[in-house]
Amino acid sequence: MGSPYMEWVKTQPPAEFPLVTSGLQFCPLSLLDTHLAAIEINGPSFYGHPPLLDAVARHCGADPDCVVLTEGTSMANHLAMACLLRSGDEVLMERPCYELLPSLASYLGATIRPFPRRSEDRFRIRPEDIRKAITPATRLIVLSNLHNPSSAFVDEATLAEIGDIAKDAGAKVLVDEVYLESLRPDSVPARSAFHLGSQFVTTNSLTKCYGLNGLRCGWALAEPDLARRMWRLNDLFGVIPAHPAEQLGLAAFGAIDKLRRRTSEHMAVNWRAFEETLGSHPALELFHPPGGTVVFPRLRGGGVDAFGARLLRDYGTSVVPGRFFGSPEHFRIGLGGDAAKVRAGLRRIADAASGHTGE
Ligand SMILES: Cc1ncc(COP(=O)(O)O)c(C=O)c1O
Repeated sequence: MGSPYMEWVKTQPPAEFPLVTSGLQFCPLSLLDTHLAAIEINGPSFYGHPPLLDAVARHCGADPDCVVLTEGTSMANHLAMACLLRSGDEVLMERPCYELLPSLASYLGATIRPFPRRSEDRFRIRPEDIRKAITPATRLIVLSNLHNPSSAFVDEATLAEIGDIAKDAGAKVLVDEVYLESLRPDSVPARSAFHLGSQFVTTNSLTKCYGLNGLRCGWALAEPDLARRMWRLNDLFGVIPAHPAEQLGLAAFGAIDKLRRRTSEHMAVNWRAFEETLGSHPALELFHPPGGTVVFPRLRGGGVDAFGARLLRDYGTSVVPGRFFGSPEHFRIGLGGDAAKVRAGLRRIADAASGHTGE
């Protein structure tokens, strides 16, 4: 029980150049156009603080009846899976995969059947792989868009095909969209998979794309009946949310255009640093995604764990070993942090990779 990845992240020794975290550099309170005197400790919040519920619904273009406010994407994933899965059910999950998703499904007693997202295929989802893996016991298909750990984007045509496969099998599709709003502004505009049909449940938060981790402002979008079940289940976990956090979440939606600009300007700088330092490094096999805050190179020659340990010890730089995502030949680099630190960390990865002799 629990998450080996989360425990590893939380107990890592601090690095001078931390490239472990996957979100944007923390957003300062001053960017939210509010001040502490405007924050109340208590306020109306039963099944959602109404102004925040409306703000999320507007942000997503969804009816408020379809919105469930949650403590981060993490709780949205938990509520969705707990409402949709019973012990012994089968879940299809992408591999590589954000480790908390299979850990959560296992905790709920489900059996996990992986479907591949191959690095040599740019981490694309091939619906025929899902068709092959699905069985009459499959209740749920789980994927992330953008993909954690590769930042690959799943287009609507592919999502719609996956939706059709799920519908034929009487299953649902859970799409974790916590990175979706970090697509580069010049990429195709992407909307939530929720809009593709009632078989979709999507989850998201302000955590990753806006650097607002501490607010825990998350949500799920689901057809109204499932949304109601998720609200009811959430009663068992928290009764009511922290109202100051709800008000700050509301302020964040009020400043969302400014936050969006901050994200794209910040990431443009860090993506440039990435291209200049590691973009064509001979020791790495790389997929260049259309945005996002992480990359997932393969270390030619293997020995990722030893490489990661040497990187931390001799270069003061931390990355996430790919074994946590089910891809031990890869490692994940977080690009969302402080620009100077990210550039310096990337340079150190380049140096360490040049001297890497494999296992
Ligand atoms: C795919 C994915 N979903 C959810 C989360 C957690 O998001 P939140 O902070 O909104 O709970 C993470 C964090 O790394 C993630 O990578």
